Amino acid sequence: MSDSLTVTDNRTGKHYEFPIKDSTIDATDLRKIKVSDDDFGLMSFDPGLKNTAVCRSAITFIDGEKGILRYRGYPIEELASKSSFLEVSFLLLNGELPSKTELDGWTSEITLHTMLNENIKKLMDAFHYDAHPMGMLISTIAALSSFYPESKNIFDPEVRRKQIVRLIAKMPTIAAFALKHSRGLPYVYPDNELNYTENFLNMVYRPSHGTQYKPDPILAKALDTLFILHADHEQNCSTNAMRAVGSAQSDPYSCAAAAAAALYGPLHGGANEQVLRMLREIGTKEKIPQLIQQVKEGKRKLMGFGHRVYKNFDPRGKIIKNIAEDVFQVTGRNPLIDVALELERIALEDDYFISRKLYPNVDFYSGIIYEAMGFPTSMFPVLFAVGRMPGWLAQWQEMVTDDEQKLVRPRQIYTGHQKRTI
Ligand code: CMC
Repeated sequence: MSDSLTVTDNRTGKHYEFPIKDSTIDATDLRKIKVSDDDFGLMSFDPGLKNTAVCRSAITFIDGEKGILRYRGYPIEELASKSSFLEVSFLLLNGELPSKTELDGWTSEITLHTMLNENIKKLMDAFHYDAHPMGMLISTIAALSSFYPESKNIFDPEVRRKQIVRLIAKMPTIAAFALKHSRGLPYVYPDNELNYTENFLNMVYRPSHGTQYKPDPILAKALDTLFILHADHEQNCSTNAMRAVGSAQSDPYSCAAAAAAALYGPLHGGANEQVLRMLREIGTKEKIPQLIQQVKEGKRKLMGFGHRVYKNFDPRGKIIKNIAEDVFQVTGRNPLIDVALELERIALEDDYFISRKLYPNVDFYSGIIYEAMGFPTSMFPVLFAVGRMPGWLAQWQEMVTDDEQKLVRPRQIYTGHQKRTI
């Protein structure tokens, strides 16, 4: 037995042998398969990159059949129960959990970079009062590149590190300012005495400077855990956007804005917003069969169900269900949880969903928690983006330092006219 693949081209009767490494063949080997010397060679056709490995990565491991998710080898369940979001961010970026001294240094660095330049604030002010906070977030992240022009020096490790710190530190501030803007309320500046998530809650919920607000520790812990669950997910749509734009050697702010734009879509991070709209539309358990029927007739999708990789269960969904109970202890029970639980129960017994291996994903329950905490629906994808930022940056950093990586430039099958004249 050899680690190779033998291919017979039935058009020509020729045989080819390609090496197999890490359960993959090199896609460019296919180009050797030609019917004539001037033939371009064979390509693979893979819309949505469903079966194409685009990189080697040591960051996140997923086994979709078994419902396993690990960051740098640590199971998500363990990280969610024992670590903080900043520890997990350090882990994703550096490969190891921080020592006490490292964590103190990392926390203080992040804390010192939470402020936004006053001109960024003015830029955010220019948005219409009903601007979607995700649109504001994407634009503001992109604008940061003009404030830190040195960020273009992506091959300088120190410069890279500085932008990574800035992006993780400023995300909660941008997110909170976007929310305050939509409510016409004054921005609340970061408070360096608070931890990462408490500071975020403070900027969101304190009515203005000088007023009293104390972040609830249970809600802060719940949100911190939600950020951990969203922190990375290997080569998902937004991470692929981060890497694809990064492959052109763009600065990390431009890359992260592109990643956030990808996340905004309803099939990706925007799904949590759509789940809530769907649950509100259903309203009561009695209306669930009607919705299921519409889904089975192909008229609509069951938002928050299905995943490209998980075909058994989404381990993040299981953890989120438990967080919901903790949050409801403080906020009171969100009645939509009962609609969601019943919807899940009915769907999981239905052959349409069983045969297609459709299970609740991370977005099915996260929105219910965010809503119970008082976040408006439009903020849900923004919260996802705050959590995902360290993952995008870890993947970007890995790509920039990977000699194997190239400018992302796929091929196409041309279906237009052959040459013609006017
Ligand atoms: N509701 C109803 N049917 C579905 C759903 C759904 N949510 N998801 C997939 N299907 C059906 C689909 O119609 C297809 O059926 P058929 O074989 O009869 O044509 C079959 O299941 C396979 O679906 P697919 O579209 O080929 O699978 P995919 O891997 O391309 O899609 C997905 C993955 C997440 C885009 C899709 O499941 C979906 O649109 N889900 C709803 C949106 C959602 O919740 N997105 C959040 C994903 S998790 C957070 C994140 O990481 O972004």
